[in-house]
Amino acid sequence: MDHPESGNKRDFLKWVLGSAAVAWLGAVLYPISAYLKPPKQGEVEVSSVKAGKVTDIEKDSGVIVRFGNKPVILIHKATGEFRAFSATCTHLDCTVQYKKDLGMIWCACHNGKYDLNGRNVSGPPPKPLDEYKVVIKDGEILISKIA
Ligand code: FES
Repeated sequence: MDHPESGNKRDFLKWVLGSAAVAWLGAVLYPISAYLKPPKQGEVEVSSVKAGKVTDIEKDSGVIVRFGNKPVILIHKATGEFRAFSATCTHLDCTVQYKKDLGMIWCACHNGKYDLNGRNVSGPPPKPLDEYKVVIKDGEILISKIA
């Protein structure tokens, strides 16, 4: 026959061992889950960026410029005019590029096409690209959000 206190000691020991096992699991699993989970990337709030000198970008070409943590496509049209749009395709967020032979903004992911006013003209993109303002001052290109 067991002593009446031996049951309490056994329960207490089970509780201690169970708690230690849970603590050990937490100590092992938390760092693994923290490592596997990508860090949150907040919006980087920027109102304007310098995109270089006018002479750096040849006519009839386009370059991708970082605007905070978003890509913007800066187009130097054959006419000499500069235009800037969000470079994130409105279909599934691929980065668009300037397609010189078409004279258009093109998304390679699903052959989406935009004209040089940012309007979606062909393929799956459902809406136009957001436009940015381009100002040339002392030969420097400044891109800013349109309020
Ligand atoms: S992501 Fe651009 S066309 Fe599909």
